[in-house]
Amino acid sequence: MKIFTSFIIGLLVFDCNKQPIADNNPEPEEEQTADTSLRNLSPFPFGAAVNINLLKNRPAYRNLVIEEFNSVTAENAMKIRFIHPQQNTYDWADADYLVDFAEEHDMRVHGHNLVWHQNLPDWITSFQGDSAAWENIMKTHIQTVVTRYKGRVASWDVVNEALDNDGHGLRESLWLSNLGPDYIARAFEYAHEADPDALLFYNDYGNEFGPTKRNAIVDLVTGLKNRNIPIHGIGMQMHTRFNREDNFHEAAITSAAATGLMVHISELDIAVNPNNDPNLTYTPAIQSQQAQKYFHIARTFHNIADTLRHGITTWNVSDADTWITGRYERPDWPLPFDENYQRKTAYYRILEAVNP
Ligand code: G3I
Repeated sequence: MKIFTSFIIGLLVFDCNKQPIADNNPEPEEEQTADTSLRNLSPFPFGAAVNINLLKNRPAYRNLVIEEFNSVTAENAMKIRFIHPQQNTYDWADADYLVDFAEEHDMRVHGHNLVWHQNLPDWITSFQGDSAAWENIMKTHIQTVVTRYKGRVASWDVVNEALDNDGHGLRESLWLSNLGPDYIARAFEYAHEADPDALLFYNDYGNEFGPTKRNAIVDLVTGLKNRNIPIHGIGMQMHTRFNREDNFHEAAITSAAATGLMVHISELDIAVNPNNDPNLTYTPAIQSQQAQKYFHIARTFHNIADTLRHGITTWNVSDADTWITGRYERPDWPLPFDENYQRKTAYYRILEAVNP
């Protein structure tokens, strides 16, 4: 029966993706019962970023999201390019769908994101205006979106990736050049005005790269906190790799917690093919090393103060859905579920880490 079910799921996945499915990852022996899910066993919210199209059209994907997670983030649907395609037009359809879905299944919604240098619609990239006009764009966008979901979206990535790649300073962006460096603080204030109960996060990547980026992020959020800007948490994306040493992940998580702000591992995935080998095989040894990284990250997070744990969110659900294979045009298997939506060794190690 199990084999038959996997076969049917495989066919469905094949049909949606139009890509061959490699069964490199045999299912572990353990039997899954209804109460051994991340959402039931994790003491903090465990979530995934979701693709609304897959949620609507791929039953194996939808069922797994319902079974395993109690927090969801829109992978793309709340980004400005999609939700605010023209200056006076908002497209709420996908974001509304996700918020309704989450409520129906007793899940938290984490909003991603309000201000980012990427994914801007053409009307913004071609906009000509003085700094007051740019301020109005940022404020109106933030407040329109946050107000719509007031009381329904629990937390927001207010500003995403404002630091440059290496953490040497603020990133060049239209927001920085038109509004100056304090656009970050004002974005938080505008969001807070629109929903005073929402938890507001600064979200970035590279806390695990090393001290330069890590300290730049910590300094940025600490500076905001010390000025009483309404910031409540640090989102660390944690798009990491299977051979990064544990102490880098540990320093990222513990330094974020030491700020006293809440911590969200907001976009977790663990790549196994960082060198872009087109012929890589996902061997049992690689799977096991990757699973160990998942264990270590999840256990380190589990061990910070419970009041600071906003949760862990993986960036999409399965190896069939990850952004990594498309972006880098390489095979990779970065998530805890395989292409057939079966639990991988990594999944079982996470479960063990969050439920010692
Ligand atoms: O929806 C359009 C479709 O209409 C169009 O035909 C097609 C042609 O390119 O593009 C589609 O949009 C794509 C979108 O994903 C939805 O699939 C965009 O091109 C593509 O750039 C976009 O990529 C997303 C990327 O952010 C940029 O927004 C990835 O899915 C998403 O996983 C990635 O997520 C980011 C986080 O937001 C921030 N942290 C890093 C993370 C990974 O890059």
